[in-house]
Amino acid sequence: MKINIDGKTSDFKAVWYEEPVIKMIDQRILPESFKIVDIRNTKELYDAIKDMTVRGAPSIGAAAAYGVAQARALGKDIEEAGKLIKSARPTAYDLFFAVDFVLQHKEEASRYAEKYVDSIVERSRLIGVNGNELIGNSKKILTHCNAGALASVDYGTALSPIRKAKESGKNPFVWVDETRPRLQGARLTAWELVQEGIEHKVIADNAAGFLMYRGQVDLAIVGADRITKNGDFANKIGTYEKAVLAKENGVSFYVAAPLSTFDFSIENGRDIPIEVRSEEEVKDIKGMAISPRESHAYNPAFDVTPNRYVTAYITEYGVYKSSELQKLKGKGKESIIEQIGNI
Ligand code: MRU
Repeated sequence: MKINIDGKTSDFKAVWYEEPVIKMIDQRILPESFKIVDIRNTKELYDAIKDMTVRGAPSIGAAAAYGVAQARALGKDIEEAGKLIKSARPTAYDLFFAVDFVLQHKEEASRYAEKYVDSIVERSRLIGVNGNELIGNSKKILTHCNAGALASVDYGTALSPIRKAKESGKNPFVWVDETRPRLQGARLTAWELVQEGIEHKVIADNAAGFLMYRGQVDLAIVGADRITKNGDFANKIGTYEKAVLAKENGVSFYVAAPLSTFDFSIENGRDIPIEVRSEEEVKDIKGMAISPRESHAYNPAFDVTPNRYVTAYITEYGVYKSSELQKLKGKGKESIIEQIGNI
């Protein structure tokens, strides 16, 4: 992704590897500050995933792939490292997919981690190519959370078709849900759209229904953290209600994700493990209390949207309805890299 810092444009990925150091953009402090964090061992990586220095399913997977390679480069027990990395967050399937993939190629862990991440970048780019075909000129698109380049190493998943639309001369406009409590929309998606010169407005999370009712949303595109066999999917808390509102108002609702987010071992969304994060994320904003000290909060980080609300899934292989997802099943993790040339 192109990033303008103090008037100078540079090319960055959300996460990369300079053996034995994993480098990542600190996503906790954007848009106020742009800082690169160095990750020097498995415990630091565990903390970085848990505290969301790196976040977004495919970027978490990329960091995890590098984490296995790093453990090997440091002469550590890589099975143990893999276990610790996997325990950092429970919902994004990419985390498990990536660790298992590199562990399967442990003799050449660095080379395979790098190939894995290259493949994720290419898959994200292809999601953009395929999704762009669904976007006409001057469309108003709603998105939730951040499923951009920050979340997917480069290009993004939900934002990739929007970037491609802009690149191909269309004029997309994006409604950006602020995405309480961590504000990934207001902070990160808006920041990426500013960098890309894509027109947008940030809206309070509870404004989307009204905009749909008024006919101001042409389509919605979101990312996913885990998609099950039947197409139910977990994504950032608040996604479910947007999907229901979209159906109620006749707005097409797309889910954009690479194969690494599909968990075909789970039949439906009821079995997706959902992360519950700290009360403070809800009760405080930037260290300032917004609720009485005596009040407790409940903070599920994701929700589950049943497949009936999804118009289609935008993948690197094409656009599929939930009834067609079985076609993706054959494209297993063993061949995730080799396949890239055959997509
Ligand atoms: O808690 P986060 O910020 O990691 O949650 C991220 C999301 O829910 C994204 O929409 C999802 O990971 C897709 S990212 C391409």
